Formats: sequence, structure tokens, C-alpha cells
Amino acid sequence: MKKIAVFDAKKYDQKSFSQYEGKYQFTYFKDRLSSKTVKLAQGFDAVICFVNDELNDEVLTKLKQFNIHGVFLRCAGYNNVDLKSAYTNKIHVARVPAYSPYAVAEHAFALILSLNRHIHKAYIRSRDFNFNLESLTGFDLYNKTIGVVGTGKIGRVFIDIAKGFGMKVLCYDPYPAKDSGYDYTTLEEIYRQSEIISLHCPLTPENHHMINQKAIEQMKDGVMIINTSRGGLIDSKALLEGLKEKKIGAVGLDVYEEEANLFFHDNSAKIIDDDILALLISMPNVIVTSHQAFLTIEALDNIAETTINNLDEFFAGTFMHNELCYHCQQSDNPEQCYKLKTKRCF
Ligand code: NAI
Repeated sequence: MKKIAVFDAKKYDQKSFSQYEGKYQFTYFKDRLSSKTVKLAQGFDAVICFVNDELNDEVLTKLKQFNIHGVFLRCAGYNNVDLKSAYTNKIHVARVPAYSPYAVAEHAFALILSLNRHIHKAYIRSRDFNFNLESLTGFDLYNKTIGVVGTGKIGRVFIDIAKGFGMKVLCYDPYPAKDSGYDYTTLEEIYRQSEIISLHCPLTPENHHMINQKAIEQMKDGVMIINTSRGGLIDSKALLEGLKEKKIGAVGLDVYEEEANLFFHDNSAKIIDDDILALLISMPNVIVTSHQAFLTIEALDNIAETTINNLDEFFAGTFMHNELCYHCQQSDNPEQCYKLKTKRCF
């Protein structure tokens, strides 16, 4: 039976993968995969990783030395993978492109509703039998403008929910969804017109820190910013300044650019060595959740099922539907995909 090392594994991962135990032999590691922990992968046939595992050149080169040629991401985003190095080291990388766009879109709205109606504050007050309503005023979502950056799978579910609230939806995407009827505009217009801005695009070298001081200056006073995509999309320092200057009215973050060593772990007994995060969390108009937007039963089951399919295809030597193709990333024309011609990226 093929031996698979599962990194950054939590109890809920073990539960969802346990139904496939007879097919593969899984070993679960609490540690993230990194230069320090890569030695744990020795002797395995493939590795399963998550969002904060470090799949850099050093780690991928080591995996190759261990004769491991398959990396399986149990997530959609792959900004943590050096695809060029994976290609050079002849390591196939597959991901789970979709597991539940509903989970993430619904969580983004959970943040919006909690921030707007101060649910996080009201919960604490009423637990103390304090039923005072001072400073709990929100605003109607109806008729407000919401800017959606990225109209892929999650963005589209998010737009449906926003429309259900009777909101005006403005969209930005370099690859607009054809025949969607969405109101596409520039990022500048989104910044200028939106009461709420929600990010649903991948993190790439081009859009790193897209929400920076210059972008924030263009936004409406009191804007609410929601990020359930990737932390690196926002310059956290500029975000903090915007909050301090009261330019930004509220912030909901499920991701944070320096989350790797903090999120998914209990740090409650530690002194947090990140002043920006500490200040953000201390603010009454900021809610930070720990990269949990994906965390629904349905999503976990779908992640396990697709990862198993990816493993099956890899070991069978057949076309890998969810392989991340290095050539496609380089090409402006996905029709020219190398993988389509050769079954695999290489
Ligand atoms: P998707 O691939 O279906 O859609 C992404 C959309 O973003 C595409 O329409 C694409 O054209 C667009 N896009 C690409 N570059 C852009 C740019 N610079 N500006 C604006 N739009 C751009 O991806 P999906 O499934 O909708 O996921 C979106 C992101 O959500 C992922 O990349 C991931 O980072 C994040 N995510 C977060 C999770 C969480 O638990 N917080 C879970 C799953 C995904």
C-alpha cells in the first residue's frame, strides 16, 4: 500500500481521510512541511500539504532526493508552492480547485453581518447581562454598494448572497465572467463607490499588497474591508493606519499575511510577537478568524475525496485533472497547455 505523509494535519483532517484508510496508508504530522521538517517525508510515496506548508525550492529538492514525485495540496490556493522548482525537480503538484465555494462565501458574509451589527460585542455584553444598545448601531445592507474583487467560484456565490440582501454589486476581475451580467468596473471605481469591499482573488506577485495606503486613500470614509482570500493581498501596516485614522470603518480578516506561524494553533498562553496583529485584534471594529472560512463538513469531505482522486490519478499514471501546470502559469494562452498534449505537466 502506498504510504502518504499528511502535513499540518488536524483531527478534522484525520476524520475526513480515515474513510480511505484501506486504500492508502496515511501518517499524520502536526508539523507544517518546511526546510526543518522535510526529513519526516523520507520513506513516503507522496505528501499531502495545506496552505501554510512551505513548498519552496529547498523543500522540493529534498523531496526529489527522497524519491517523492507527488505533492497533493488539500486546498485551492497555491501561492506557497514554487511551481518552477517543482517542474525542475519533476514533482507533480495537484490541488483541490473547489471544495465548497459556499463555505467561504458564507463565512465572508458572517464577517460582514457580525461587524455591521456588532454581534461580537453584543454577545459579550449579554453574557454579562449588559443589555445596553449604545454603539451597536449598524446600517441596512439593502441598497448599499459592495465591491467584489475576483468573480471566480467563491466570488460568484458571494455575489448571489449579496444580491439576496438587495445590494448593488460592482465587480473587478482581469478575466470577467462572460454573459454573467455582472457590473464590471475598474479597481479605482470599486474603491471609490463601495461601502464594503470583499476580496475573492488568488494571491499573485502582481496583486501582492493590492490593498495598500494608495488604495485605502481612494476608498469611501468608513469602508468595510473583508479578506477571506490570502493575507498578502493586504498591506497590514497600511490597514492598521487606515483604521487608526478612522478612514476604514471595519475590517474582517480570515487570513493574515503573517499567519503561517500563528494560525491553526492555540497561542493563548504565548506572548504574540506581532504588534500589528495584536493591535488589529484589539480594535472593536476588527474581527479576525483563523483561516477557517473553508471549515464546513461538506468542504472537508470534498477535500478528502478530491485529494484521493488526485492520488489515484498520480499513481495510475493517467491524466491528472487537478495538476498545477507550470507551463500554463507561464502562458497567456491556456489553450496551448502542455498538459493537454502530454497528459501531464511533464
Ligand atoms: P477561482 O479560481 O474560482 O476564482 C478566482 C478569480 O479571481 C478568477 O475569476 C480570476 O480571474 C480572478 N483573479 C485572478 N487574478 C486577479 C486579480 N489580480 N484581481 C482580481 N481578480 C483576479 O478561485 P476561488 O475558488 O473563487 O477562490 C478564490 C481565492 O479564495 C483562492 O485563490 C484562495 O486564495 C481563497 N480561498 C480561501 C479559503 C479560506 O478558507 N479562507 C478557502 C478557499 C479559497
